[in-house]
Amino acid sequence: MTFDWLKRYVPRSLYGRAALILLLPVVTIQLVVSVVFIQRLFEDVTEQMTDNVVLELARLVDLAEAAPDPEAARVAMAPLARALEIESRYPDPDPVRGDSRVFYDLSGRLVIRTLRASLDGITGIELAEDDSVVELSLALLEAPIGFTFDRNRVSAKNPHQLLVLMIGTSLLMTIIAYLFLRNQIRPIRRLAEAATAFGRGRVVAYRPAGATEVRSAGAAFLDMRQRITRQIDQRTMMLSGISHDLRTPLTRLRLGLSLLDEAEAEAMTGDVAEMQKMLDAFLDFARDGALDDPVEIDPAVLLRDVAENASRAGQAVRIHEIDGAEPVVLRPLAITRALDNLVGNAVRYGDRAELSLAVGRKALVFTVEDNGPGIPEAARADAIRPFSRLDPARNQDRGGGVGLGLSIAMDIARQHGGTLRLEDSERLGGLRADLVVAR
Ligand SMILES: Nc1ncnc2c1ncn2[C@@H]1O[C@H](COP(=O)(O)OP(=O)(O)OP(=O)(O)O)[C@@H](O)[C@H]1O
Ligand SMILES: [Mg+2]
Repeated sequence: MTFDWLKRYVPRSLYGRAALILLLPVVTIQLVVSVVFIQRLFEDVTEQMTDNVVLELARLVDLAEAAPDPEAARVAMAPLARALEIESRYPDPDPVRGDSRVFYDLSGRLVIRTLRASLDGITGIELAEDDSVVELSLALLEAPIGFTFDRNRVSAKNPHQLLVLMIGTSLLMTIIAYLFLRNQIRPIRRLAEAATAFGRGRVVAYRPAGATEVRSAGAAFLDMRQRITRQIDQRTMMLSGISHDLRTPLTRLRLGLSLLDEAEAEAMTGDVAEMQKMLDAFLDFARDGALDDPVEIDPAVLLRDVAENASRAGQAVRIHEIDGAEPVVLRPLAITRALDNLVGNAVRYGDRAELSLAVGRKALVFTVEDNGPGIPEAARADAIRPFSRLDPARNQDRGGGVGLGLSIAMDIARQHGGTLRLEDSERLGGLRADLVVAR
């Protein structure tokens, strides 16, 4: 048996859950205890008070019964009735018939029950008409006899004070608990923010704080962040070091080749030029570690700039659709570079490129579509890998590149907490590349 359905009703935030875990049992216990306690106390007191009044009423009835006639009965009852603050009517001109009380008068039910249980001959008890008095009639003597007395004589006042005190302290404790909780949750939120920012390629100041568990999670995060940063730096340094060092022997090789017979050396010169090109691209790739800083920018402006620059360079590029124009934080040079690569591919493998932008709540998507052959689904993962060029027949006469364009675009997308998606373009029939950037 699983409790999956329960999950839908459990609050999602730590606040909500903590409140549930801490407050729910306390409130429940308090409610149960106080309701049961108050009710019991209340009932006992009401019963005892009613019993007392019953004794007094019985005494008055006895007096009336002993008297020879109604007039004498009235005289006999008068002093005691006055002393007990009970108003008596004998004979009762308008005797009460049947019991009545308002529905929410819970102690009234108990009063009626107790009176009926201990006093014989009751024809009716009236509590509804005036809630500050009890009026009842009895048929014990020749004529009906009626009594009216203060309601306070039979039931205790509602324990408002206790309830108010209880609710008041509960509120106070809740506020204090909330303040404490907020201080406990803040360091967790800070850690989450720092981790999210790092995932998007930003290093924000963070210092572990809070409870030991949170603190050690924070310290572990800082360790990890440092390790990753160091690794990236090392990779960049190593890559650019190697490619830089390779340039010198390559230049020497070219010089050597230029001294040879031109026809003989032609093929080799081509190879060396190719190597040179690869090295340059490689250096570019390695330099990726040194990206520009994130700034707030309107992505639509950036996309238009990319399109304009490409058109100026003679490429068939146009903007298809721009949906939403809110400023977002990103690294403009890096994104421009990724888009340049995608546009370069589009016009190299197709004839024209169309750019779109969709700004969503959580992410923005730059789309580059072309009318080329596209990339079959099975080859997409391969195409993104560094230095991979797909089936050379397709790339003939296209001035083949080194195979870094897509992997650089992917790298840049990842540094922005996003990804690069390759799909079929339904509109143009070629490739559709979505550069997704987290906001
Ligand atoms: N728009 C496209 N249409 C069809 N095939 C594509 C497209 N874009 C990329 N490809 C295929 O994916 C391969 C890898 O692309 P990538 O951009 O990484 O390298 P490249 O274009 O060959 O070289 P570079 O971009 O480094 O100059 C390409 O060789 C090509 O076969
Ligand atoms: Mg390319």
